[in-house]
Formats: sequence, structure tokens, C-alpha cells
Amino acid sequence: MFVQLDDSSVLYRQVYDSVRRAILEGRLPARERLPSTRSLAMELGVSRRTVLLAYDQLLAEGYIVGKVGSGTFVAPELPDSPFLGPSSDKRAATRSAPPRLSRYNRRLVSNPPVPPPGWTLDREPLRYDFSYGQPAVDWFPQDVWRRLIVRSLRTPSLGLLGFTPPEGFAPLREAIAKYLRHARGVDCTPDEVLIVGGSQQALDLAARVLLDPGDRVALEEPHYQGARQIFLAAGAKLIGLPVDAEGLVVSEVAVRARGARLMYITPSHQFPTGATLPLPRRLTLLEWAERADAYLLEDDYDSEFRYSGRPVAAIRGLDRAGRVIYIGTFSKVLFPALRVGYLVLPPVLVRPFIAAKFLADRHTPTLEQQVLADFIKEGHFERHVRRSRTRAAARRAALLLALRDHLGDRVSVSGADAGLHTLVWFRDVPNTRIPGLVQRAAAAGVGVYSVAPYYLKPPRRGGLLLGYASLNERAIRQGICILASVL
Ligand SMILES: Cc1ncc(COP(=O)(O)O)c(C=O)c1O
Repeated sequence: MFVQLDDSSVLYRQVYDSVRRAILEGRLPARERLPSTRSLAMELGVSRRTVLLAYDQLLAEGYIVGKVGSGTFVAPELPDSPFLGPSSDKRAATRSAPPRLSRYNRRLVSNPPVPPPGWTLDREPLRYDFSYGQPAVDWFPQDVWRRLIVRSLRTPSLGLLGFTPPEGFAPLREAIAKYLRHARGVDCTPDEVLIVGGSQQALDLAARVLLDPGDRVALEEPHYQGARQIFLAAGAKLIGLPVDAEGLVVSEVAVRARGARLMYITPSHQFPTGATLPLPRRLTLLEWAERADAYLLEDDYDSEFRYSGRPVAAIRGLDRAGRVIYIGTFSKVLFPALRVGYLVLPPVLVRPFIAAKFLADRHTPTLEQQVLADFIKEGHFERHVRRSRTRAAARRAALLLALRDHLGDRVSVSGADAGLHTLVWFRDVPNTRIPGLVQRAAAAGVGVYSVAPYYLKPPRRGGLLLGYASLNERAIRQGICILASVL
């Protein structure tokens, strides 16, 4: 009997699944006559309607032919050899063999990403997790956001529900251009702003639009690994440029970066060392880009957080030759799940980037864009930035104090003037001992993260990245105290 019933799902679905499976496995061969609906229903102890429904579905999908009532047969054109089942070993073997993947994918999997801290979902959350890369999401004014969403949905225009322009929602592009002008010294028009799904998509589009396999891309050493992965997957050849306490060492650029099409940089807060690139170096980079006919890809990922001195204006604000592609994101200042970022493009690159964005995903979700535009225009964004900066400054101060009290001269701290993380270098712990330290710290409930994955060539000294936004001051002090005892 080819139909077995249990109480796993509705009866007609079970009859349909059993007959279909019997056909695909060759137990019911082509042209075989099926029992009548009446006799099958009697045999199974179900209503005739149940069997009729199952046969109708099989007829509609082409597994069986004939007229219900005057004989039903397995469709004659089905192949003789069974499609599923034990006798189709060869096909099964093909199915379990590794799939044939593109070169792009092979390059991608041979350079796996560093999972952002806190991503290991199978791990118990750590009590003192110095994870970096995101703000304290509980600072976000969810009540305001909820109100704005409800307001947008109360009067949804038809435009909000259909496709919207790939370059982004016009009021959001205007709000961003205005914000960048006064906060980042970037003088751009809304037409030069392209809304994307976070900086990660901005980087991906840049690689698609500007790179061919074999092209050279220069980047800081160390650098943001998410960018490195994109360039490697695109088939680029990477050139690592040294970084010192002031950021990228520009004196090396002319020689080492020869032939590069693109240079990826984080001048406002070098990732991960935290250095801020001084003005003369910025001007040297602009000169180089113009001479080399290359683009500077400026990733300004967390410049809203600066604790001493005035924020340094973005390189894009100094660019007169259309050589800078500026990337900004709301991940660090609002919340990363929003997945909204933006590019500010030189005018000649606007159309090519819009074309790539349209192909990738048509456009960034419109409701989020509309709500974000209102959030900025109505002053909530600036208020939130001010509040977050004050709170982050208090946590940063607590971390610096705890490091001084518990680790003293054993460490030197780099890049604490801006951003939401700091880099701690050990004087007496080599990089080879960092994985053990990270493990022991985790066993004691403290999450700390090695800086080594952000290098092409790992450093000799041991270094840890400590994010401080998500822990309160007390937890920061306790966490560092435990880290010191683990050491
Ligand atoms: C330097 C840097 N750039 C870009 C990103 C990606 O941010 P987004 O969430 O906007 O894709 C990150 C994320 O951690 C980052 O650290």
C-alpha cells in the first residue's frame, strides 16, 4: 500500500504526498492505473472528498492524467527511472557532492569574515562583554521611533508602498546633505547622496562599480576586515599601507600604492587603532588620488563620537577634484539592524552607482527611510547624538581609569579620543598568547577581542579591542578587574 496516514497533517495533504512520493520513487511507474477515489477512500477509511482533493492537486501538477471518475493513470511522459529513492544512487551522489561554485564565491569562502562580537548565538551572553562595533542599543529612543512609524503608516501614501527611486527617498537625501554640511564639513547636494543598506553595501557597490579582478586596492594595515573581504571577493590585489599614531603613513603611498585604482581609508577614526589623520596627510592623499587617477574611499563610520577637540572635517570636504567617495552609516549612532547608510559620490559616479544599487536590491526599504528622514528633520537625531556622546564619554572615562588602576604600565591605550572602542596594546603579552587570554577571560565572564584579525600580517605584540558602549561604568570597572586577575 503506497499511502500511509498518521496525524501529522491534514488528510488530503498526506494522500497527495504519499502518491506523489510513490511516483517520484518509481513505485508507481508511468501509465500505471491508480485506484479509484471511491476504493482508495474506503481502503484508507477517509471520505471520498479527501481523495478527490488529493487527486485534483496531482492532476493540476501533472503527476497523473485522466478524468476523475473514468480512470486515473500516472502521467505517461514521466521518466522511467525513478527520480528519488534508493535506485537513484547516482543522482543522490551528485546531490551530496560539493556544489560547483563561482570564482567569486571561492574567493569569498577562502577569506571568511571575522564574526562581529556578540554574534556567536550559541554562546551564553558574557556578563562583562567589551564587544565593539555597535552603540548601546538601549540608548535609542524607541518610543519616538515607534511614534514616527505609526504616523507614517497612518497616512501611507501609495508611493510608500510601491517601488521608490533607487537613489533613495528624496527628503532623507536632503536631510543627510544638510547634516553633513554642518557636522562633517561635507559640501554636497542631495543629488550626490545615495542611500544604501549600511556601509557594507556601500563598499560592495564601490567594488562592483570600480574594480575588475586583478585591480590593485590600497588599504591601511590594520584595516576593517569587512572591507578587505569585499575587495578580495572582487578579485582585487591588496596593498597594505603602514599606520602610525597619526594614522596612515602617507610618505609611503606614492611608492607602495603605485597602480592602485582605489584606496580604502578611515581617516577620522582609523579602524581599529583609533588614530585621527592630520590635515597635511589628508591633503597629501588628495594630491595622490588626483595624480594617480584613483579614488579615495573614505569610511566615516563613527565620527559622531569625538571626546576631545573639535571633530575633524571629512576628506570629502576638501576634495575639489571629485576623487573622494564618502561613506556614512547610521549603524554606530542609531542601531545596526536599521541597515541604512549612504554614499556621497563625485557627480560622474552618481549614475553608475545608482545602476548598481538598482540591480542589487531596487532600493533601501522606504518606510525606514521615511521615518529616518522625519527623525533627523524633527531634531531627534541631533538630540540622540548629543546624549549618546555624553553617555559614551562617561563609559570611556571609566574604562581608561580602570585600565590605569588595574593594568597600569603593562598596557598602552590607543585611539581613545573618538569612537566607541579603544585598542589596548600589551607590553608583555605577545600576539601568540592572545587567543588563550581571550578564552580564559571568556571563561571568567569577560568578553575581549583580539586585534589580529584586522591585519594582513598579524602583529608581534598582543592587542585587544575593547568596546565600552554597552557596559555601564560599574560593569566596566569589574570587567577590567577580572581581566587583570586572569592575566
Ligand atoms: C570601519 C567600519 N566600517 C563599516 C562598518 C559596517 O557598518 P554597517 O553596519 O553600516 O554596514 C563597520 C562595522 O562594524 C566598521 O567597523
